[in-house]
Amino acid sequence: LFKIAGMVVVAYLLGSIPSGLWIGQIFYHKDIRQLGSGNIGTTNTFRTLGPKAGVVVLFMDVLKGTLAASQPYLLGVSHTVNPLLIGLFASLGHTVSLFDHFHGGKAVATSAGILLAYNPPLFGVACGIFVATLLLTSMASASSIIGITSIFLIALGIHDWILAIVAGILTLLVLNRHRGNIKRIMNGKESLVHFGLVYYL
Ligand code: G3P
Repeated sequence: LFKIAGMVVVAYLLGSIPSGLWIGQIFYHKDIRQLGSGNIGTTNTFRTLGPKAGVVVLFMDVLKGTLAASQPYLLGVSHTVNPLLIGLFASLGHTVSLFDHFHGGKAVATSAGILLAYNPPLFGVACGIFVATLLLTSMASASSIIGITSIFLIALGIHDWILAIVAGILTLLVLNRHRGNIKRIMNGKESLVHFGLVYYL
């Protein structure tokens, strides 16, 4: 039980690291919470700080989830403690960050990182669905929502019930965090991505 509590705390702390916010403050002297969509995630980092920072934040945010969910494997307890259940706390940390006054991002990249640790081929599928939707809609938000929902549906299809529960929780979290995006999509005002650059309408 002590081990589980430790892994949960580490997962939450890892998830809490606000990569986009800190990269912006340290290297660009900008607070991305005040720019673009105001989100601290990869999309808004691309949009407000450019591709170099965007790639670094994407990498860091995915890595947070992967490291958090890898703990049960590293400690040799993955047969008793499901990595997804530990990883979940990284996504929660990302949205309710200790280092951002309990605010945070939209849980997309970190959730993908959890999936990378748990089931790499499925992570590849999720990335494929994200990229395909992005090419079709030019909207990172719609691609994120469709990507995570697809993983939930696939988990049901392959009868991976723990993944279905965790992906279901994460889908609800992602939908909740994208309330503003969903409103903008409905009004035709969502920002669009073109060839790796993100424009804010
Ligand atoms: O992952 C976040 C993305 O889905 C939307 O970001 O900045 O356009 O609200 P943003």
